[in-house]
Amino acid sequence: MYPSSRGVDVCIEGTEHHPECPHGPTLLFTRYYESKPLRQFYACSAYRDRKSDGCSFFQWADEPTRPEKEALRRQINALHRPRRTHAENEERLENLSAEEGNAVRYCHQCETLLPKKERKEHAEHEDRVQMISKNRLRYPSQILTPRDDDKSYAQYLFNEESVEFFLSMLIELEFSHVLCIGCPTVHEAVVASESPLQSFLLDLDYRYTQFWPQLSFQEFNLFNCHFFDGAKGEANFKRFLKSAKGGKIAFFLDPPFGGLSEAISSTLAKLKSMARPKALHSELFWVFPYFLEKQLLDACPSLHMLDYKIGYSNYPKSRNSKRGSHVRLFTSVNAEKVVLPASEGYRFCTRCKRYSSQENKHCTKCKACPSKDGRTYVHCNLCTTCVKPDWIHCPSCLKCMPVSHTCEAEEGGPVKVGCHVCGDVSHKRRDCPRIGVLFKRKQRKRKRGKEQPASGKRRNEPSVVNV
Ligand SMILES: C[S@@+](CC[C@H](N)C(=O)[O-])C[C@H]1O[C@@H](n2cnc3c(N)ncnc32)[C@H](O)[C@@H]1O
Ligand SMILES: [Zn+2]
Ligand SMILES: [Zn+2]
Ligand SMILES: [Zn+2]
Ligand SMILES: [Zn+2]
Ligand SMILES: [Zn+2]
Ligand SMILES: [Zn+2]
Ligand SMILES: [Zn+2]
Repeated sequence: MYPSSRGVDVCIEGTEHHPECPHGPTLLFTRYYESKPLRQFYACSAYRDRKSDGCSFFQWADEPTRPEKEALRRQINALHRPRRTHAENEERLENLSAEEGNAVRYCHQCETLLPKKERKEHAEHEDRVQMISKNRLRYPSQILTPRDDDKSYAQYLFNEESVEFFLSMLIELEFSHVLCIGCPTVHEAVVASESPLQSFLLDLDYRYTQFWPQLSFQEFNLFNCHFFDGAKGEANFKRFLKSAKGGKIAFFLDPPFGGLSEAISSTLAKLKSMARPKALHSELFWVFPYFLEKQLLDACPSLHMLDYKIGYSNYPKSRNSKRGSHVRLFTSVNAEKVVLPASEGYRFCTRCKRYSSQENKHCTKCKACPSKDGRTYVHCNLCTTCVKPDWIHCPSCLKCMPVSHTCEAEEGGPVKVGCHVCGDVSHKRRDCPRIGVLFKRKQRKRKRGKEQPASGKRRNEPSVVNV
């Protein structure tokens, strides 16, 4: 696809001057090449595969867009909006609920609830029309067919035990409000519970506008903080934040793992800043795989990983490791306070002052319960740290390594790849001192171009960034 590409980084900065796709302002990315200078481009923030039929938006940052193309884009964006607004769907739901009988119909072909008067129009989809009891309308995630494409929605739902644990944890930690971002099942559980906890759901999936009123759900893109209902959607969300005044709010999110932690972290900061009055007592709960711990903590240093293994109901079995789920809960709450369920084998480690899983044995030498991946680690005296149980201490590499590794010192062994910007092996491209200078130069140019119309604002930039 990109034969010489060495990867892509997202550039977190204001997206307000970026061109827009149907999913709001695009993100600016930098692509690194092996044999040519890096280059920046704009692409959709919600659909991470341009080749799929989700969103194919692409624009080199250094190439001006013709006004005709921009006009066409605006038309496409407008056409992309769904047939019915959230307000219309809310009214339909009220009417449906008032219809006689305990059940309503849902057409899976058209992904829509059917009022009596519209049933005939769906006669041809009869085998895809399902009867749903009115009580179940409060559990839309159980009705909708999950969109489980990893490059966009990645709709993997928590299993019952995990939802139950989250609900009791939030109640025990005395939260008054929870903002569920991409967590429809947690929202459903809170709404159905008898606790005074208030919940609001933000999610990219428009289908939820048929089930939740505007005061408790907004169609939203987490990667660029875009409310699809514009100022109205934002106002409804702000109302919820305002109601948390004097209480304690949990921001609870389970984003697609392919999602960009820095972009999400920037959105969280924006959402928090919408609170009036400003002082909001909030904590963060972020569901992510343990092997992306570093990436996540770099983007969000207030978090730490708990040992709790999160269960999913529709996660493909082939992807679950032998050691069980690889997904963990990261939080800003003091780990000592988050009681993990003893019924699932978790215990309180008095020395670490946190709950650890059964297999995560405390190591007195490391002074920690060191396991991350759900196995019991073993202490290596030579490395003076605990390592994965199937690693061996390699006399050639002078450290513990997987049994089937290629020694670093061996001829033909892995060559240390230097920074993709300047080639220095002591740092990665993210930490390159030169890239800051480079981007500042680009930003200055972009700022200078801000007064120009969108099509001209990048005209002054060189077509390729030379490093
Ligand atoms: C991994 S699933 C999490 C669902 C959660 N485990 C549950 O059971 O409630 C990802 C969720 O994020 C939503 N989502 C995907 N992309 C999003 C985006 N760009 N902005 C907001 N929500 C998004 C999906 O619709 C889905 O509900
Ligand atoms: Zn898009
Ligand atoms: Zn239909
Ligand atoms: Zn311990
Ligand atoms: Zn140890
Ligand atoms: Zn070792
Ligand atoms: Zn070795
Ligand atoms: Zn460098």
